[in-house]
Amino acid sequence: MSDLSSLPIATTADLDQLRKKIRGWQRDGQRVGFVPTMGALHEGHLSLIKLAQERGSRVVASIFVNPAQFAPHEDFDAYPRTLRDDAAKLANADCDMLYAPLASDLYPDGFATELKLGGAAQGLETDFRPHFFAGVAIVVAKLFNRVQPDLAVFGEKDYQQLLVIKQMVRDLDLPISIIPGPTLRERDGLALSSRNAYLSTKEREIAAGLHEILTGFARDLANGTDWETAQGKALAKAASAFDRVDYIEARCAATLAPLPAGPVDRPARVLAAVWLGKTRLIDNLAVG
Ligand code: PAF
Repeated sequence: MSDLSSLPIATTADLDQLRKKIRGWQRDGQRVGFVPTMGALHEGHLSLIKLAQERGSRVVASIFVNPAQFAPHEDFDAYPRTLRDDAAKLANADCDMLYAPLASDLYPDGFATELKLGGAAQGLETDFRPHFFAGVAIVVAKLFNRVQPDLAVFGEKDYQQLLVIKQMVRDLDLPISIIPGPTLRERDGLALSSRNAYLSTKEREIAAGLHEILTGFARDLANGTDWETAQGKALAKAASAFDRVDYIEARCAATLAPLPAGPVDRPARVLAAVWLGKTRLIDNLAVG
């Protein structure tokens, strides 16, 4: 890890320092907003910082590439680590503090607690990355406990993650408001993601098709087509554009429960995960 004191934003890996600073702000009556990230920051993350600034007076961001949410065959080692650039972006965005804990501190020898998730964690990502939400939930629970923010912002780009975190906060009575941040997109519709950096030029061109397919799927549902027909159409398009389709589905927007057969009769969300070469893209849209 780089020398944290040389970064252009107040940065700490130390829990006592973090707590001292945050408790000081809270004692002065300031609300603290928190934006947890894995780094490789882009405009999407910075829009979450901005949202936190609009809702709270101080903002803490964290950068931690969380090993618990990657399976052994996934891209933990390859995940971009750009701490110095990220710190500069956070400083430019007037973020107040960066927390960059070490894995050995968050998961010391003997760490053995797991969270078992139901509800919004069922299906979709879990069918393909069964380890994922347990890994996300444990690290977010630990970060929440360390930072103890008044509010935290999560991007709608990871819609299922957002609902899993909301559910965890509700179920565990954590006194933290969860604020959803709208997805930021490139001009051609591709949702901003740190993993877009993996795409070749050719793959990058194809990637924008995911947004188009989801837009068509959502439009069909809004026009009253039954979800089974609309899903079949979207699936056929995705299968011809992408190397592999993990899922493309319509779910209840509030809970991610499967929809009853036929036309959609409640607020719904379409969600997809597809592959281009070694890159997995996820995206989602509201229906209507
Ligand atoms: O969305 C992410 O970047 C991660 O899943 C999170 C919430 C920071 C937990 O590691």
